[in-house]
Amino acid sequence: RRTTRVHHLAQMKAEGEKWSMLTAYDYSSARIFDDAEIPVLLVGDSAANVVYGYDTTIPVSVDELIPLVRGVVRGAPHALVVADLPFGSYEAGAQQALESSIRFFKEGGAHAVKLEGGERVADQIAALTAAGIPVMAHIGFTPQSVNGLGGFRIQGRGDAADQLIADAIAVAEAGAFAVVMEMVPADLAGQISRKLTIPTVGIGAGNETDAQVLVWQDMAGFTHGKTAKFVKRYADVGGDLRRAAQQYADEVRRGTFPGPEHSY
Ligand code: KIV
Ligand code: NA
Repeated sequence: RRTTRVHHLAQMKAEGEKWSMLTAYDYSSARIFDDAEIPVLLVGDSAANVVYGYDTTIPVSVDELIPLVRGVVRGAPHALVVADLPFGSYEAGAQQALESSIRFFKEGGAHAVKLEGGERVADQIAALTAAGIPVMAHIGFTPQSVNGLGGFRIQGRGDAADQLIADAIAVAEAGAFAVVMEMVPADLAGQISRKLTIPTVGIGAGNETDAQVLVWQDMAGFTHGKTAKFVKRYADVGGDLRRAAQQYADEVRRGTFPGPEHSY
Protein backbone atom coordinates (compact mmCIF):
# COMPACT_ATOMS: atom_id res chain seq x y z
CA ARG A 1 0.00 0.00 0.00
CA ARG A 2 1.29 3.40 -0.92
CA THR A 3 1.88 6.31 1.39
CA THR A 4 -0.17 9.27 0.19
CA ARG A 5 1.76 12.44 -0.55
CA VAL A 6 0.76 15.72 -2.12
CA HIS A 7 1.64 14.77 -5.71
CA HIS A 8 -0.67 11.73 -5.52
CA LEU A 9 -3.63 14.04 -5.00
CA ALA A 10 -2.79 15.97 -8.17
CA GLN A 11 -2.42 12.65 -9.96
CA MET A 12 -5.85 11.50 -8.74
CA LYS A 13 -7.43 14.71 -10.05
CA ALA A 14 -5.77 14.21 -13.43
CA GLU A 15 -7.18 10.66 -13.50
CA GLY A 16 -10.65 11.71 -12.31
CA GLU A 17 -10.37 9.61 -9.14
CA LYS A 18 -12.31 11.04 -6.18
CA TRP A 19 -10.83 10.75 -2.70
CA SER A 20 -11.87 11.33 0.87
CA MET A 21 -10.49 13.13 3.86
CA LEU A 22 -11.52 12.77 7.50
CA THR A 23 -10.50 14.69 10.55
CA ALA A 24 -8.53 12.87 13.25
CA TYR A 25 -7.31 14.08 16.61
CA ASP A 26 -5.63 11.11 18.25
CA TYR A 27 -3.61 7.96 17.71
CA SER A 28 -6.42 5.41 18.11
CA SER A 29 -8.87 6.91 15.61
CA ALA A 30 -6.04 7.73 13.19
CA ARG A 31 -5.05 4.05 13.15
CA ILE A 32 -8.60 3.05 12.26
CA PHE A 33 -8.86 5.62 9.44
CA ASP A 34 -5.43 4.66 8.11
CA ASP A 35 -6.53 1.00 8.09
CA ALA A 36 -9.68 2.11 6.25
CA GLU A 37 -7.36 3.60 3.59
CA ILE A 38 -8.50 7.19 4.04
CA PRO A 39 -5.67 8.90 2.14
CA VAL A 40 -5.72 12.29 3.89
CA LEU A 41 -6.28 13.02 7.59
CA LEU A 42 -6.85 16.54 8.84
CA VAL A 43 -6.04 17.51 12.39
CA GLY A 44 -8.68 20.20 12.17
CA ASP A 45 -8.99 23.17 14.45
CA SER A 46 -12.47 21.66 14.88
CA ALA A 47 -10.58 20.01 17.75
CA ALA A 48 -11.65 23.22 19.48
CA ASN A 49 -15.20 21.85 19.45
CA VAL A 50 -14.87 18.08 19.53
CA VAL A 51 -11.75 17.69 21.69
CA TYR A 52 -11.69 20.79 23.90
CA GLY A 53 -15.40 21.66 24.05
CA TYR A 54 -15.13 25.31 22.98
CA ASP A 55 -18.17 26.88 21.26
CA THR A 56 -16.17 28.03 18.22
CA THR A 57 -12.75 27.31 16.72
CA ILE A 58 -11.48 30.74 17.73
CA PRO A 59 -9.93 29.93 21.14
CA VAL A 60 -7.85 26.86 20.23
CA SER A 61 -4.07 27.39 20.19
CA VAL A 62 -1.06 25.97 18.38
CA ASP A 63 0.07 24.50 21.71
CA GLU A 64 -3.24 22.67 22.09
CA LEU A 65 -3.13 21.26 18.55
CA ILE A 66 0.48 20.10 18.22
CA PRO A 67 0.16 17.13 20.62
CA LEU A 68 -2.90 15.94 18.65
CA VAL A 69 -0.91 16.09 15.40
CA ARG A 70 1.81 14.00 16.99
CA GLY A 71 -0.67 11.26 17.91
CA VAL A 72 -2.29 11.23 14.46
CA VAL A 73 1.07 11.02 12.67
CA ARG A 74 2.05 8.03 14.80
CA GLY A 75 -1.26 6.29 14.16
CA ALA A 76 -1.41 6.86 10.40
CA PRO A 77 1.71 5.65 8.60
CA HIS A 78 0.12 5.85 5.13
CA ALA A 79 -2.05 8.97 5.27
CA LEU A 80 -1.03 12.49 4.38
CA VAL A 81 -1.47 14.36 7.67
CA VAL A 82 -2.59 17.97 7.32
CA ALA A 83 -2.47 20.27 10.36
CA ASP A 84 -4.90 23.19 10.61
CA LEU A 85 -3.35 26.55 11.51
CA PRO A 86 -5.61 27.95 14.24
CA PHE A 87 -6.98 31.48 14.42
CA GLY A 88 -4.24 33.91 15.42
CA SER A 89 -1.34 31.83 14.10
CA TYR A 90 -1.04 33.16 10.52
CA GLU A 91 -3.15 36.30 9.91
CA ALA A 92 -0.32 38.70 10.81
CA GLY A 93 1.62 37.73 7.71
CA ALA A 94 3.99 35.36 6.00
CA GLN A 95 6.50 35.41 8.86
CA GLN A 96 3.93 34.37 11.45
CA ALA A 97 2.50 31.70 9.15
CA LEU A 98 6.00 30.30 8.62
CA GLU A 99 6.81 30.24 12.33
CA SER A 100 3.55 28.46 13.19
CA SER A 101 3.82 25.97 10.34
CA ILE A 102 7.41 25.14 11.20
CA ARG A 103 6.27 24.22 14.70
CA PHE A 104 3.60 21.89 13.27
CA PHE A 105 6.28 20.26 11.11
CA LYS A 106 9.12 20.02 13.63
CA GLU A 107 7.15 19.33 16.81
CA GLY A 108 4.08 17.64 15.33
CA GLY A 109 5.44 15.81 12.30
CA ALA A 110 2.71 17.15 9.98
CA HIS A 111 3.11 16.79 6.20
CA ALA A 112 1.10 19.87 5.22
CA VAL A 113 -0.81 22.76 6.79
CA LYS A 114 -4.21 24.23 6.13
CA LEU A 115 -5.31 27.84 6.60
CA GLU A 116 -8.52 29.76 6.05
CA GLY A 117 -8.97 32.54 3.54
CA GLY A 118 -8.63 33.29 -0.17
CA GLU A 119 -6.97 36.36 -1.67
CA ARG A 120 -6.23 37.77 1.78
CA VAL A 121 -3.85 34.89 2.65
CA ALA A 122 -2.17 34.50 -0.76
CA ASP A 123 1.11 35.95 0.60
CA GLN A 124 1.17 33.41 3.41
CA ILE A 125 0.47 30.54 1.00
CA ALA A 126 3.24 31.68 -1.35
CA ALA A 127 5.79 31.99 1.48
CA LEU A 128 4.95 28.59 2.95
CA THR A 129 5.06 26.90 -0.44
CA ALA A 130 8.43 28.51 -1.16
CA ALA A 131 9.69 27.12 2.16
CA GLY A 132 8.69 23.59 1.16
CA ILE A 133 5.56 23.49 3.30
CA PRO A 134 2.57 22.22 1.28
CA VAL A 135 -0.56 24.29 1.90
CA MET A 136 -4.21 23.35 1.70
CA ALA A 137 -6.42 26.43 1.46
CA HIS A 138 -9.97 26.75 2.85
CA ILE A 139 -12.53 29.11 1.33
CA GLY A 140 -16.28 29.64 1.39
CA PHE A 141 -17.55 29.40 4.94
CA THR A 142 -14.46 29.74 7.13
CA PRO A 143 -15.38 29.04 10.77
CA GLN A 144 -12.58 31.19 12.23
CA SER A 145 -14.31 34.21 10.63
CA VAL A 146 -17.75 33.34 12.00
CA ASN A 147 -18.04 36.74 13.67
CA GLY A 148 -17.22 38.61 10.47
CA LEU A 149 -19.43 36.40 8.32
CA GLY A 150 -22.42 36.88 10.62
CA GLY A 151 -22.99 33.25 11.52
CA PHE A 152 -23.00 29.81 9.89
CA ARG A 153 -24.10 30.73 6.39
CA ILE A 154 -23.80 29.49 2.84
CA GLN A 155 -21.13 31.47 0.96
CA GLY A 156 -20.83 32.42 -2.69
CA ARG A 157 -24.51 32.95 -3.41
CA GLY A 158 -25.48 35.55 -6.01
CA ASP A 159 -22.94 38.37 -6.40
CA ALA A 160 -20.60 36.71 -3.89
CA ALA A 161 -19.86 33.97 -6.45
CA ASP A 162 -17.30 36.18 -8.22
CA GLN A 163 -15.35 36.71 -4.98
CA LEU A 164 -15.35 32.98 -4.27
CA ILE A 165 -14.01 32.25 -7.76
CA ALA A 166 -11.35 34.96 -7.29
CA ASP A 167 -10.38 33.39 -3.94
CA ALA A 168 -10.08 29.93 -5.48
CA ILE A 169 -7.87 31.23 -8.28
CA ALA A 170 -5.76 33.26 -5.85
CA VAL A 171 -4.95 30.32 -3.57
CA ALA A 172 -4.18 28.06 -6.53
CA GLU A 173 -1.88 30.69 -8.08
CA ALA A 174 -0.16 31.23 -4.73
CA GLY A 175 0.77 27.53 -4.74
CA ALA A 176 -1.83 25.71 -2.62
CA PHE A 177 -1.90 21.98 -3.44
CA ALA A 178 -5.64 21.70 -2.70
CA VAL A 179 -8.51 23.88 -1.54
CA VAL A 180 -11.37 23.09 0.83
CA MET A 181 -14.68 24.71 -0.06
CA GLU A 182 -17.17 24.80 2.79
CA MET A 183 -20.91 25.53 2.48
CA VAL A 184 -20.92 26.64 -1.15
CA PRO A 185 -23.70 26.03 -3.71
CA ALA A 186 -23.03 22.75 -5.55
CA ASP A 187 -23.07 24.30 -9.04
CA LEU A 188 -20.51 26.94 -8.11
CA ALA A 189 -18.27 24.36 -6.39
CA GLY A 190 -18.46 22.21 -9.53
CA GLN A 191 -17.62 25.17 -11.75
CA ILE A 192 -14.57 26.03 -9.59
CA SER A 193 -13.48 22.39 -9.50
CA ARG A 194 -13.46 22.22 -13.30
CA LYS A 195 -11.61 25.52 -13.57
CA LEU A 196 -8.78 24.72 -11.13
CA THR A 197 -6.04 22.18 -11.81
CA ILE A 198 -5.55 21.59 -8.05
CA PRO A 199 -8.03 19.31 -6.26
CA THR A 200 -11.03 20.81 -4.51
CA VAL A 201 -12.26 19.26 -1.26
CA GLY A 202 -15.91 19.83 -0.51
CA ILE A 203 -17.83 20.01 2.76
CA GLY A 204 -21.38 21.12 2.12
CA ALA A 205 -20.28 21.88 -1.45
CA GLY A 206 -22.17 19.21 -3.41
CA ASN A 207 -21.02 16.25 -5.42
CA GLU A 208 -18.84 17.82 -8.10
CA THR A 209 -15.71 18.56 -6.08
CA ASP A 210 -12.65 16.32 -6.49
CA ALA A 211 -12.72 15.15 -2.88
CA GLN A 212 -14.87 15.31 0.26
CA VAL A 213 -14.12 15.98 3.92
CA LEU A 214 -16.14 15.45 7.09
CA VAL A 215 -15.45 15.75 10.79
CA TRP A 216 -15.24 12.12 11.90
CA GLN A 217 -17.44 12.57 14.95
CA ASP A 218 -20.15 14.00 12.70
CA MET A 219 -20.05 11.19 10.13
CA ALA A 220 -19.82 8.48 12.80
CA GLY A 221 -22.58 9.78 15.09
CA PHE A 222 -20.28 10.79 17.92
CA THR A 223 -21.33 14.47 18.14
CA HIS A 224 -23.72 15.99 20.59
CA GLY A 225 -26.81 17.74 19.27
CA LYS A 226 -27.84 18.55 15.74
CA THR A 227 -25.40 18.30 12.83
CA ALA A 228 -25.39 20.36 9.63
CA LYS A 229 -27.43 19.35 6.56
CA PHE A 230 -24.23 18.40 4.72
CA VAL A 231 -23.37 15.64 7.22
CA LYS A 232 -24.24 12.04 6.49
CA ARG A 233 -24.20 9.82 9.55
CA TYR A 234 -22.58 6.46 8.76
CA ALA A 235 -22.62 5.00 12.29
CA ASP A 236 -23.88 5.50 15.82
CA VAL A 237 -20.59 5.45 17.68
CA GLY A 238 -21.99 7.74 20.38
CA GLY A 239 -24.95 5.43 20.99
CA ASP A 240 -22.75 2.33 20.96
CA LEU A 241 -20.33 3.90 23.41
CA ARG A 242 -23.09 5.06 25.75
CA ARG A 243 -24.67 1.59 25.74
CA ALA A 244 -21.28 -0.02 26.36
CA ALA A 245 -20.61 2.30 29.31
CA GLN A 246 -24.08 1.64 30.74
CA GLN A 247 -23.70 -2.12 30.40
CA TYR A 248 -20.24 -2.05 31.98
CA ALA A 249 -21.48 0.01 34.94
CA ASP A 250 -24.49 -2.26 35.28
CA GLU A 251 -22.40 -5.45 35.31
CA VAL A 252 -20.03 -4.00 37.89
CA ARG A 253 -23.03 -3.07 40.04
CA ARG A 254 -24.50 -6.56 39.72
CA GLY A 255 -21.15 -8.22 40.33
CA THR A 256 -21.12 -10.06 36.99
CA PHE A 257 -18.01 -8.30 35.72
CA PRO A 258 -15.25 -9.37 35.94
CA GLY A 259 -16.07 -13.01 35.30
CA PRO A 260 -13.72 -15.94 35.78
CA GLU A 261 -12.51 -15.52 32.17
CA HIS A 262 -11.26 -12.01 33.01
CA SER A 263 -9.58 -13.06 36.27
CA TYR A 264 -6.14 -14.49 37.09
O1 KIV B 1 -11.35 21.92 11.23
C1 KIV B 1 -11.94 21.18 10.44
O2 KIV B 1 -12.46 20.11 10.79
C2 KIV B 1 -12.01 21.60 9.03
C3 KIV B 1 -12.72 20.73 8.06
C4 KIV B 1 -14.15 20.55 8.37
C5 KIV B 1 -12.49 21.15 6.66
O3 KIV B 1 -11.47 22.61 8.71
NA1 NA C 1 -10.69 23.89 10.35
